[in-house]
Amino acid sequence: MKKVLIADKADAICEKVLREKGLEPIVKTGMKPEELKACIAEFDAIIVRSATTLTCELIQAATKLKAVARAGSGVDNIDVPACTGKKVVVMNTPFGNTVSTAEHAIAMIMALARHIPQANSSTHAGKWEKKKFEGVELTGKTLGVVGCGNIGAVVADRAMGLKMKVLAYDPLMTAERAGELGVKMVGLEELYKNSDFITYHVVINPATKGMINKEAMAKMKKGVRLINCARGGIMVEADIKEALQSGQIAGLACDVYVKEPATEHIFFGMESVIATPHIAASTKDAQVTVARQAAEQIADYLLNGKKTCAINGDKI
Ligand code: MLT
Repeated sequence: MKKVLIADKADAICEKVLREKGLEPIVKTGMKPEELKACIAEFDAIIVRSATTLTCELIQAATKLKAVARAGSGVDNIDVPACTGKKVVVMNTPFGNTVSTAEHAIAMIMALARHIPQANSSTHAGKWEKKKFEGVELTGKTLGVVGCGNIGAVVADRAMGLKMKVLAYDPLMTAERAGELGVKMVGLEELYKNSDFITYHVVINPATKGMINKEAMAKMKKGVRLINCARGGIMVEADIKEALQSGQIAGLACDVYVKEPATEHIFFGMESVIATPHIAASTKDAQVTVARQAAEQIADYLLNGKKTCAINGDKI
């Protein structure tokens, strides 16, 4: 019987689906790299979320490994070139948590506009600070969506429901797609110049790494509010702190950080920052969907050779 390691916490549906398909799921979460290295050669496939990092060293030690599934979208915790080199297919579940992540971004926009977390803490503390928490309306304001793929498109759709104008920047988006979504496709400079809120939905790669930096923020409207539910690495965190202190940026809502878990951070304690612990995709609904999809993808590949959402599918 083929063995599948579930290396990170995943909904119980994952194990159930694998068993029903005739595979042997082994749940071992929270392993240190050396523990994983010691047992990785037993497995035909591995399912991870974001806690386990599959390094080149681990992949080299995985002598039976045929497939890795990421229950989620980002594959930045998997050494994909190392997998490709060993003919290990890497699959993700890019659609399973789209809506949850987009809804979190919308919640962040609203929280920024009306200071909800700050007003909540103040009211619980017995203060009654009506003046301090005056907000702004979203109706008629412009939202810039940087990266208009699966998640960005849902954010744009929901924002238009809130009567915001939406500008979208995505080098991969066609004019036809922009028309279907009802967004105005613009260059990044135009988006920066005209947006009241800017939300990022890009993957981390050499082009996006550190893209929210001093130079970029200097091109934005003074008092813009930023939302990052994508990846921490797209920010130069020290530059953002400086821009918040100078008032160039009025607020930041941040779900992701350069270094995670972030238990200490230069943003923590700043009134203008709303911080959540990488939970944009963490809903019951999304976790069931991604866990089921990852298990089905592994079973389909191990049993029938069928690849679904394979990142390196053309090279295997
Ligand atoms: C994803 O890439 O799927 C999300 O950021 C959620 C996660 O990393 O767990």
